[in-house]
Amino acid sequence: MTLKIALLGFGTVASGVPIILEKNREKINQLVQKPITISKILVRDESEKKQLKDQGLDYNFVTDINEILFDDDITVVVELIGRIEPARTFITKALENKKHVVSANKDLIALHGNELLAIASKNNVSFYYEAAVAGGIPILRTLSTSLIADKATKLFGVLNGTSNFMLTKMVEEGWTYNKALQTAQELGYAESDPTNDVEGIDAAYKLVILSQFAFGMAIDYQDVTHQGITSITPQDVTYAQTHGYVIKLIGSIEETKSGLAVEVSPSLLPKKHPLAMVNNVMNAVYLNSIGIGESMYYGPGAGQKPTATSVVADLMALSNEIGTKNKAKLFNNYMRPEKIANAEDIQSAYYFSVILLDGNKEMLSNLFKTCHIKLDELSFEKSAQQEELALIKTEVITKNQLEKVKQIFLKSPKFQLCNAFRILGD
Ligand code: HSE
Repeated sequence: MTLKIALLGFGTVASGVPIILEKNREKINQLVQKPITISKILVRDESEKKQLKDQGLDYNFVTDINEILFDDDITVVVELIGRIEPARTFITKALENKKHVVSANKDLIALHGNELLAIASKNNVSFYYEAAVAGGIPILRTLSTSLIADKATKLFGVLNGTSNFMLTKMVEEGWTYNKALQTAQELGYAESDPTNDVEGIDAAYKLVILSQFAFGMAIDYQDVTHQGITSITPQDVTYAQTHGYVIKLIGSIEETKSGLAVEVSPSLLPKKHPLAMVNNVMNAVYLNSIGIGESMYYGPGAGQKPTATSVVADLMALSNEIGTKNKAKLFNNYMRPEKIANAEDIQSAYYFSVILLDGNKEMLSNLFKTCHIKLDELSFEKSAQQEELALIKTEVITKNQLEKVKQIFLKSPKFQLCNAFRILGD
């Protein structure tokens, strides 16, 4: 008896599943109740099917989802198409047809996970998605099993392989933004439309999922503030470097007294921070918790084999659970009421870069004073376009103060605010 599965899609990650099943076959077969076999693979159309067959791939490719949904021999559907539709419909139907589902689709799980989990529960099947967060790092199962006795207080993550790869190459090797993006695409790290990677949206989706596993709260995607890497300038990078920091796209979840503060933004991180060493396509989740204190989970955040390894781990869990339990297992059992932090309770020091259009140092200092923001440092240099550029480091301020000063800059004809990045502590 084998565990028959169907793959939906045969892109970068899906094509890695048979590779992992084959390369690690001996170990996998020793550790599962039923060996895993790929019964069918759903592809887009006849032309993709022909293309794959021409490459010598000898799988049972199908183009009609019903051939999978109504095949009683198939126990698990592995959705690796990505994005919302048709993935949402296919997963819904698979769950309703009592098939367990494995997915790597962070977009869908972040936006519609609660609805899909409810359908899974109603139909007494499991829905696993280890590969949806940080690709090859087994962070979700670690949070829900190994860290079961601990309680997280703060989580920082480098959660998008594409943007981390791009930032690393741009900072360390002087690559242009376009060269870095193109290479990330060629290496299979980026999404087909890389907007979500570079705008912090992909990392924000992952934070929604991490909020459930690490903090037990099913927060809405709309409650995650996000900002990407597109506005970072060479001046920002140099400022960070000369002041003992590195700029990273950091996703953070902090439990404040009023609730969770969840944000993705370019952040200045002390060079000695463990996350500062996370480069190229590597991801990491850095956790502060009551019991363990400080821990970090590091590994490749994207790519064929790492992500497929996480998918296969979910399949192996299912292979060992199916038929042994009356009730399908939940991926995450930690649940408590959702609470989002008040802006007043979200605090950080900030770095600002501001172009002086018609303003001077005194006006600039007064502008910050109006918002009761104390400056730690204020220096001036020429921008790439030879404008007068002020580089500012503030003391710790609240999110309210940040929003207020941003609004004032927006209305001021004297200054142009280029960037405002968080300066993170330990
Ligand atoms: N495009 C994503 C990344 C893939 O670069 O991290 C993994 O989610």
